[in-house]
Amino acid sequence: MTIGNEYELSKLREIGEIVAETLRRMGDALEPGMTTAELDAVGAAAMAARGATPAPAKTYGFPGATCISINPAVAHGIPGDRAVRAGDLVNIDVSAEKDGFWADTGASLIVPPATAAKQALCRTTRKALKRAAAAVRAGRPMNVIGQAIEQVARRAGYSIIRNLQSHGVGGALHEAPAQIASYYDPDDQRVLREGMVFTIEPFLSTGAEWADEEDDGWTLSTPPQYLTAQYEHSLVVTKGAPIVLTAA
Ligand code: CO
Ligand code: CO
Repeated sequence: MTIGNEYELSKLREIGEIVAETLRRMGDALEPGMTTAELDAVGAAAMAARGATPAPAKTYGFPGATCISINPAVAHGIPGDRAVRAGDLVNIDVSAEKDGFWADTGASLIVPPATAAKQALCRTTRKALKRAAAAVRAGRPMNVIGQAIEQVARRAGYSIIRNLQSHGVGGALHEAPAQIASYYDPDDQRVLREGMVFTIEPFLSTGAEWADEEDDGWTLSTPPQYLTAQYEHSLVVTKGAPIVLTAA
């Protein structure tokens, strides 16, 4: 959506804060031995306590309150009986709606012990998100986002999952502007406008460039030899630095 008044901004800030708090609570609860269904229940309770509705279920009939993906699954993982193990790289993606306003956030978390390789991948992916957000400003081309992500990824020797892209949010979970690439797309002629609301969610990988859907019809995974991380914020374009709605 493109916001036009303070009421819309205040409602987006509220739902952004709710998904950020939910993600934080799930991260705090994450430990070896728990199942992803138990972790999802922590998220469901946190959203319910704030009067918010999980977005993937409401929008797509997703069977869970949050998406929990353990490498090599990278997105849209279904919470279930899988137990979290030491060393897992776990992506938690939280999106929700309240009063018709929607926000989306996500993070990859390492269950200790963390290897240097996993730490470096997570650190670099956070940096890609930060650099991309810093490039956002009303009047600039939209493809500065992918350009910034690609520059950070290339310098560190990581690939980008090309079929997982950032997207408009705010009035729905996924809306215009659709398909904001995490790589430089010279053919993208769109321009950032004041008030635009969208996510930035780079997926950086140690080699994968594509995530394929598993037989369950939801989970998106890479080949097993790769590590992949994602971080996601929802933000609002301004004439200056963007407003990050989902900052923890
Ligand atoms: Co998300
Ligand atoms: Co998203």
